[in-house]
Parts: sequence; structure tokens; C-alpha cells
Amino acid sequence: MSLIEIKHLRKEYSDVTPLKDVNASIEKGEVISIIGPSGTGKSTLLRCINRLEVPSSGQIIVDGVDMCAPNTNLAAMRRKMGMVFQSYNLFDHLLVAENIMMAPMDLLRMPKQEAWERALKLLDMVGLKDKALSRPRELSGGQRQRVAIARSMALDPEILLLDEPTSALDSTNVSEVLLVMSDLAEKGHTMLVVTHEMRFARDASSRIFYMDRGEIWESGTPEQILENPRRPETHDYIFRVRGWHFDITSTSFDSVRMTALLEHYCARQFMGKRAANTCELLVEELVLNQLVPAAIERGIDNPDLHLDLFAGEGGVNMTLLLDYRGLVAGGDPLADSGDAFSSAVVMGLVERVETLEPGLVRYHIKKR
Ligand SMILES: Nc1ncnc2c1ncn2[C@@H]1O[C@H](COP(=O)(O)OP(=O)(O)OP(=O)(O)O)[C@@H](O)[C@H]1O
Ligand SMILES: [Mg+2]
Repeated sequence: MSLIEIKHLRKEYSDVTPLKDVNASIEKGEVISIIGPSGTGKSTLLRCINRLEVPSSGQIIVDGVDMCAPNTNLAAMRRKMGMVFQSYNLFDHLLVAENIMMAPMDLLRMPKQEAWERALKLLDMVGLKDKALSRPRELSGGQRQRVAIARSMALDPEILLLDEPTSALDSTNVSEVLLVMSDLAEKGHTMLVVTHEMRFARDASSRIFYMDRGEIWESGTPEQILENPRRPETHDYIFRVRGWHFDITSTSFDSVRMTALLEHYCARQFMGKRAANTCELLVEELVLNQLVPAAIERGIDNPDLHLDLFAGEGGVNMTLLLDYRGLVAGGDPLADSGDAFSSAVVMGLVERVETLEPGLVRYHIKKR
């Protein structure tokens, strides 16, 4: 029997039914990445599995035990499942080590010395042994999340449930947490990870579940799901998350935020400094030096510009789709020329410019 069996799981709230009919069998040692658009029940599914949420109908069987049966010892079953959330939920009035020692001492009646040794071992595993006596607030976001992961392992669980463990972190902290997660995956832990980190999904998971419409809409190996998705919804989603999108609807938009988001995307794609730099220069040149001034010059306060950057991992095949059709409407001189924004700076950064229609241009970015 599989370690986790989910049969016709349904969860309805008064106004939405995020899980309509979820079915899955998960074997011991499998690492499952759960992906999908917001609101498709990914968190609900994890919360149903450890019964933080009561399913409306269906079955969840963990290690042969029916999680929904009235006589099931939920406390005992939950000890088999470590859970990590987006926000670390560490206690600030306790030391880092004490956060980890709490569950073994309270629930297993483990002697303090033994719990301390165990905490040190777990902290060592996530590379934070020297922070045992710090307060959580003295740590970076990435370090705190690593402590949270160590804590989730404190009862030596059979299953780890991680709900977007990296999405509250900035890019420098994401990598260190992903490294710890990949390490756990390699060691053979059974993991269910809701994540937007496609690199983790690809490299560390045995299978990916794409959730949509209240179901596991498509599942398969990382290669199947990420490279050859069969269903159009999966394809659209993958295509979207692998790119970077930014809309500019006002000439007084937040350009610092744009740059920060772009940097984050480049880091996530493991582009390398030079490639990331090229993308950032191109976007800034186009937006800040050309498009926005052009909009201001024409008295257009709400220009409706769209940027879509796609990059393969390591910065291969980088393209930027620039949609400035909002600026060329109504017989504007820009429309007449049908010309892309192609200043000397831009031309130094791209290999080729493809004008799809007036105001819709694809730049093929140089790999430097
Ligand atoms: N306790 C609740 N009461 C009512 N509705 C809820 C509750 N929890 C979740 N929902 C709703 O269920 C749906 C699925 O929520 P869920 O958090 O599982 O989505 P998700 O896939 O994790 O989304 P995200 O990617 O944004 O985290 C949403 O429409 C949400 O508003
Ligand atoms: Mg969620």
C-alpha cells in the first residue's frame, strides 16, 4: 500500500469548493511538487492531509490509517507529518534551539539534554548549529525558514508537508532554503511541497501535481509536466510562471519595484550576473528612457504597457516581448514608422528585433 492514498477527496466551504475530486497515491520516499494557480486548493490539500482541515468527503489514508475515521488518533498521526509554512511561525521568546526542543519535550517527554542534542543535530543539518542560542528575530528570513524546517523534523516525521516555504523570502535567501529542501529530498524523505520554484520542482521532485479546477488536473514526471504538458491549462500555467511579466499602467509607476521583481526573476532562473544585467539594462532603457518619456510627451498618463521576459535556465534564449500598442493607437507618429524602440543602447544588448505589429516587438537578447 502507498504511504499516502487520497481518494475522491472533496472540500467545500460555504462559497467555494477548492477540492472537488482529488485522487493520488504517494509512495514512501517520493518528492511531490504541487503547482498551480492561486486559489486552486493547494494549501487546502496539504491541510486536509494532516487534518488541520476537515474534508467534506472522500478518504485520506496515511500509512494505512484512515485520517477521517472518528476513532483515529489525530495527534499521533500528526507527529508523522512535519509541516512548514510560508511564514515561519517561530516563537520569538524562545531561543532557536528551544523552538526545536519544544515538541520532543512536550509530546514525547524527551529529556532536556536529549532534546538539546537532537536540536543541535537538526540545526547542523540546515547549517545553523552556531545559531542555537540566538533568538529567531536575530536571523535572516532564510535562516528562520531553515530553523522552521529543522523544527518540522524534530519528531522525526515520515512525511514533510511544505507550503510555499520560499515565497516570503527574497532571492538571496531562497537558494539557501532550496538547498536544504533538496538535501532532504535526496536523503529519501517523503515530501509534498507546494512551490513556485520550478527549478526545485524539476530537479528535486519525483513527480509534479498540477492543480486546477478542484483536481490534480495533470500529474507526471518533472519532464512531462514542465517540458511536455498535455493539457492546455497546464501548458499556459507553465509558460506563465517561467516568464517575467510587468504591466505599466501609469507614468508614475513604481520603477524600483519593477527592477526588484526583475532581479528576483533573473536570480530564480539562475541566469548569471551578466545575462541578468543585460536584461535589466534593456528593460530600464526601454521603459525609463524611451517608453515612459514618450508617453509623457504625448500626454498619456495611463499608457498600458506590458513586458514579458522569457529566459531558459542559465540565460539561454532570452526574449523580451514589449507591448506598447497603447502608445501607438490613433495615428500616432510611432505607429506610422512601425518601428521598434531601437536606440543604440538597445541594439547593443540584443541580437535581433522582431516587429510583430506596430507596438508589439520581440527582442532577442544577446547572451553575453
Ligand atoms: N477557511 C476557509 N474558509 C473559506 N474559504 C477558504 C478557506 N480556506 C481557503 N478557502 C478558499 O479556498 C480556495 C482555495 O484556497 P487555498 O488556500 O487552498 O488555495 P491555494 O491553491 O493554496 O492558493 P495560493 O496559491 O494563493 O496559496 C480559495 O478560494 C480560498 O479563498
Ligand atoms: Mg496556498
